[in-house]
Amino acid sequence: MKEYRIALLPGDGIGPEVVAPAVQALEAAGRLFGFSLRFETARIGGAAIDADGTPLPEETLAVCRRSDAALMGAVGGPKWDTLPGDRRPEAGLLGIRGALGLFANLRPAKVFSPLADASPVKNAGQMDVLVVRELTGGIYFGRRGRLTQDGVAAAFDTEQYSVPEIERIARAAFDAAARRRGKLASVDKANVLESSRLWRETVTRVAREYPQIETEHLYVDNAAMQLIRRPGSFDVVLASNLFGDILSDEAAMLSGSIGLLPSASLGAGAFGLYEPVHGSAPDIAGQDRANPLATILSAAMLLRHSLGETAAADRLEAAVDAALAVCRTPDLPAAGLPVVGTAAMGEAVLDALR
Ligand code: IPM
Ligand code: MG
Repeated sequence: MKEYRIALLPGDGIGPEVVAPAVQALEAAGRLFGFSLRFETARIGGAAIDADGTPLPEETLAVCRRSDAALMGAVGGPKWDTLPGDRRPEAGLLGIRGALGLFANLRPAKVFSPLADASPVKNAGQMDVLVVRELTGGIYFGRRGRLTQDGVAAAFDTEQYSVPEIERIARAAFDAAARRRGKLASVDKANVLESSRLWRETVTRVAREYPQIETEHLYVDNAAMQLIRRPGSFDVVLASNLFGDILSDEAAMLSGSIGLLPSASLGAGAFGLYEPVHGSAPDIAGQDRANPLATILSAAMLLRHSLGETAAADRLEAAVDAALAVCRTPDLPAAGLPVVGTAAMGEAVLDALR
């Protein structure tokens, strides 16, 4: 029997609560499809700051490096909000993305049919987009600092991209579009930023390798508007680290329920880091109220992208749809169905899997 090694990074807040049912779902999928999983837990974020004095211990990277994939909960919380930038829980997340070379962040956002009315936008019903966000470059990783100019305090951050960095994320996005509906919208601010002009030139050149993909280029402000105006017309949205961060939250809100959205962060090989798009929600932590479905769907992405267990991934995604038809967590419209907690929603997915 095939055995996979999975690193578990529960993190902070609701992280541990949503990772637990996702582990159960993975184990159940393994029993159904004939593979086994060996889990190794490691610390990241605030939990690691408290125990190890750093948001990203070396041991956590080591655990990931000997695993086929990593499943993360969430990081951050008010307890650590006053720490300096490079020692905050978020630095652990940025650090692991950089250290493991996870440059391609896939964030699918679609309207789940049982929740069609939950979107704040009337015409979002047809939306099914995949935001492909560059994750290890741009202004997140550029030079930054504080200085004093003519006696006035100032600060700067640098947006910088190289041609190879743009090429590899563009190819990841075009490949994804080829597996989906064959459309790609590349987002930039090429009317103002030099880095965006290089982005657009490079994406235009890579597009010639994919003549079957219908490509458009949008300025980021216009893209933000068109996502609201014509959400159903987008397939793959390709964006830099910062623009992808912003547009993926917009797409998440269009879907009506950030509690349902998974993500994958991939590098050059099969290894990936999988996590829900939502954060650590400290206000509801420890209350059995969090929606575990985004993490369970992240586990499905893990099965698909890192383990190649496609049938198991399909089955798990179908089980989430089925669970949504019988119960709801408090973040979703109840629509006459019983409102249940984190653990019970996890059980509903397990029931649907069997
Ligand atoms: C995300 C988050 C992170 C980011 C934060 C927590 C550092 O917003 O994953 O989208 O900006 O990348
Ligand atoms: Mg974000």
